[in-house]
Amino acid sequence: MATLRLLLTVAGLVSAASDVSWQSLQEGLTAWEAFGFDTSFSYSVTRDNRSLFQYPASHDPTTLAWSDGAVQIFIAGAKSDLLRNVTVPVVMAIFKGKDPSLTTGEKSVSRDELLEEGGGVTLPALLAARGVSPQHPQPGWPLIQRALDLWAAMGWDKSFTFNVGTRNGTVFTYTKGTTDMNRRLPGASLSKWPATLTIAGLVADGTMSFDDKANKYLDWWSKDPSDPRSNITLRHLLTFQSGYTSDPRVLCQYNPFANFLKCAETLYKSAKISSPPGKTWSYISIHLQLAAAMAVSASGLAPDVIFQRYVYQPLGMNGTSWFPKKNPMMAAGIVTTGADFEKMLNKMLSYEFLGQKVLSEMEEDWSAPVSPCGDGWFGHYGMGHWFDCMGYGSGQAKGSSAQLSQWCADEKIQAGPGAFGFFPLIDRKRGYYMQIVLKEDSKCRSEIPEYLRILAKPLVDAILEKRSATERELFEGRGALILREVYDIYKSLPPRCWPLGEQIQI
Ligand SMILES: *[C@@H]1O[C@H](CO)[C@@H](O)[C@H](O)[C@H]1NC(C)=O
Ligand SMILES: *[C@@H]1O[C@H](CO)[C@@H](O)[C@H](O)[C@H]1NC(C)=O
Ligand SMILES: *[C@@H]1O[C@H](CO)[C@@H](O)[C@H](O)[C@H]1NC(C)=O
Ligand SMILES: *[C@@H]1O[C@H](CO)[C@@H](O)[C@H](O)[C@H]1NC(C)=O
Ligand SMILES: *[C@@H]1O[C@H](CO)[C@@H](O)[C@H](O)[C@H]1NC(C)=O
Repeated sequence: MATLRLLLTVAGLVSAASDVSWQSLQEGLTAWEAFGFDTSFSYSVTRDNRSLFQYPASHDPTTLAWSDGAVQIFIAGAKSDLLRNVTVPVVMAIFKGKDPSLTTGEKSVSRDELLEEGGGVTLPALLAARGVSPQHPQPGWPLIQRALDLWAAMGWDKSFTFNVGTRNGTVFTYTKGTTDMNRRLPGASLSKWPATLTIAGLVADGTMSFDDKANKYLDWWSKDPSDPRSNITLRHLLTFQSGYTSDPRVLCQYNPFANFLKCAETLYKSAKISSPPGKTWSYISIHLQLAAAMAVSASGLAPDVIFQRYVYQPLGMNGTSWFPKKNPMMAAGIVTTGADFEKMLNKMLSYEFLGQKVLSEMEEDWSAPVSPCGDGWFGHYGMGHWFDCMGYGSGQAKGSSAQLSQWCADEKIQAGPGAFGFFPLIDRKRGYYMQIVLKEDSKCRSEIPEYLRILAKPLVDAILEKRSATERELFEGRGALILREVYDIYKSLPPRCWPLGEQIQI
């Protein structure tokens, strides 16, 4: 391994650096070394000949005593300049008094800002850092395939399928391990998108309208004009803006034999509304359970019949079900296959399913006017799925209430991941769908698949346009991991991972 020495002088930064935290850099370098991107390297930061940070801790700072008084970053033993590219923007942010380990809020550093400064690892750079040539005689899918091989070899995800298609059907499918397109998987919040599409089917066929009030169909729902609940509409429920901000614990929800509507009534009577509808957004299950109660009452059909008639049958989804069958948990009860999800995404893309009018309405950024607008990470919210903008709350004083960047607003990516890692998305602008099909081990939940989504998406954009992407384009497409994300992957792998509790909300 050739040793490369990099010396960098960083000027014009805040003077006092006494209360800055080097934790994010320490963590990032720990992960960097553990993943073997570079090994046996040393990293030091000095200012006015004073050593401020060193990695590893045993490294002798006296070798750095040639500082000219400015901030200096000294890296020895790195294989390439990748480590410099990824860390220098982080060090600069630390000197500006930020904490790059934070993912949201004013003290955090925006992922866009770090990427603008070149502070990220793209998929080709990741391959190169692990000694796999990203070059291939055939540009395109073989590169993705190599990346997925590496992803599995690193143990970042072990058993999964990566699938891409257009209106014309499948373009690429690649499986690692045993989770292929036909394996039935519980999906947790993966349920939210198809559950919402199911209910929207009753809007598409004229049974209901998005602006119908819940009390139009449910006789136990308040009609008292002084009760804010009397104003809740189907649209409020499907955009998660009903004003409910926590799920009450209602035992009948876990009883497979409970009557669906009776249980929805119990849920309604147990829940406390905390704001008028249309003012706040909250990622909880009650909205869809009550929206489904509207659909059941409006149609006179049982929930399992509604699923059958409005999604399974029109989409040809023959491997999907919701549990419990007669009293389904709308927001979390799906069991499905990659193949079924592909049918759904494909027919949404072509507007064969539900039609352009209804789908376009569902795919707006509905949460932009309310607070919070989302979770600060996945994005804002449409109806039952994210208006994707990963990391939008980072570097923003308003955190999860921050507006989307113009770039995200223009991309209009629609995404519907679940807590077990299954990540489906639709790119309307370029006309394709992409999904990472898997169910993570609930004893070791990682959420690593969303990083694969980040890295792969702009490469897929280019491949479908039959060209190779430059590093610059990958950065412009936000397709690179910043240092805290490399550490987050490290932190999420055994033995450091964290179990998913019994209660699945997301
Ligand atoms: C840093 O150390 C060098 C070499 O010992 C010395 O010449 C220089 O004056 C020092 N600079 C400061 C700002 O202390
Ligand atoms: C580091 O950044 C420079 C400047 O943008 C770029 O030319 C170089 O390719 C990057 N190195 C790696 C390994 O990505
Ligand atoms: C789908 O197929 C048609 C007919 O072969 C072709 O003209 C069109 O470009 C294809 N569209 C996509 C998005 O691949
Ligand atoms: C319900 O909506 C109406 C019409 O927008 C409004 O006048 C009324 O104040 C609302 N009721 C409550 C309790 O918020
Ligand atoms: C589901 O439908 C597909 C065709 O879309 C078919 O290939 C598959 O065998 C069916 N699966 C079952 C379990 O019937």
